[in-house]
Amino acid sequence: MLVTQYFSKDLYKGKTVFVTGGGSGINLGVAKNFAALGANVAICGRTQEMLDAAAAELRAFGTKVSADVRDSAPLEAALEKSRAALGAMDVLVCGAAGNFLVPAEKLSPNGFKTVIDIDLLGSFNATRSAFEQLKETKGTILYISAGMAYMPHAFQVHVGAAKAGIDMMMKNIALEWGRFGIRANSIVPGPIEETEGLKRLSDPAEKKKLINAVPLRRTGTVDDIGQVAAFLAPPLASYITGCVVVCDGGQNLPGSALFNMGAEQMLRAQQG
Ligand code: HXC
Ligand code: NAP
Repeated sequence: MLVTQYFSKDLYKGKTVFVTGGGSGINLGVAKNFAALGANVAICGRTQEMLDAAAAELRAFGTKVSADVRDSAPLEAALEKSRAALGAMDVLVCGAAGNFLVPAEKLSPNGFKTVIDIDLLGSFNATRSAFEQLKETKGTILYISAGMAYMPHAFQVHVGAAKAGIDMMMKNIALEWGRFGIRANSIVPGPIEETEGLKRLSDPAEKKKLINAVPLRRTGTVDDIGQVAAFLAPPLASYITGCVVVCDGGQNLPGSALFNMGAEQMLRAQQG
């Protein structure tokens, strides 16, 4: 359910939100929730058709820019384009990510680097490029992390390292940029239905088992994450910074054993 059920539709009127990886899934869900509360939203990603389709879905859509977060110069240009069109950003959402299941001993150095570059370096690039805008607005940064950041999951050595890095970077940024009025927090989604991430990591035939292992006995929705994002952005949550907010129905509490078994089955099936 969109956040307008609970918050004023004008809460983010006149505010600008920039979402990396905003063309699909959870990040698009976050973008839509901000748009529903009146924000102007800019999104970036690599696939133009996906950005076009996402743009069509966003009510108060502002701008869409094709940019790879691994490349700092075009990303900086994308953020400047957003500023020119929509004004200095109030919220930066770092959501671009890559993921695949792979046993550590089979992961090539370039495979490891690819995920570190998209998730961790990409989040730094966006953060660094957004500094002047966020300083001007006393804005906030939301990093989209994952349970792999604090709970080891099989076949996710690259993702665990990348997301743990993001959460630590978030704390450093919160510590250093608090003096400018800039806040930084991470959101850890649990298993979110109808997303690329869940499709890659979990067999739909095993959905019932997955749900039974979630303390709240359901998968999450993109709007669950959109609501948390809306709460963490100014003017709300104005004294919260440096926090990892876990929104997973309690999924990570029992550990990753069930995930590890399911992931092993999926890998075996993929490898024939
Ligand atoms: C082993 C793999 C691999 C795989 C790629 N590589 N896929 N290794 N198993 N399945 C290796 C390649 O062999 C290569 O290394 C290196 O990674 C780079 O591969 P490219 O295909 O050139 O990379 P690129 O085109 O940049 O694509 C990035 C990608 C891709 C991550 C590999 O899948 C992608 O674009 N993903 C974006 C969408 C996505 O992943 N969404 C899910 C996010 S969910 P070599 O050595 O051969 O050169 C998420 C958390 C979910 O993040 C948590 C759920 C609970
Ligand atoms: P998704 O739809 O694949 O979202 C990832 C987005 O990142 C895509 O729009 C992708 O678009 C973009 N992206 C990837 N590489 C990029 C790059 N180099 N530069 C710019 N954009 C790039 O997957 P999702 O499942 O919704 O995941 C969204 C976020 O939630 C991720 O941070 C993920 O780690 C996190 N998460 C998801 C789950 C889940 O259950 N799905 C759970 C925990 C955490 P292009 O490919 O077009 O660039």
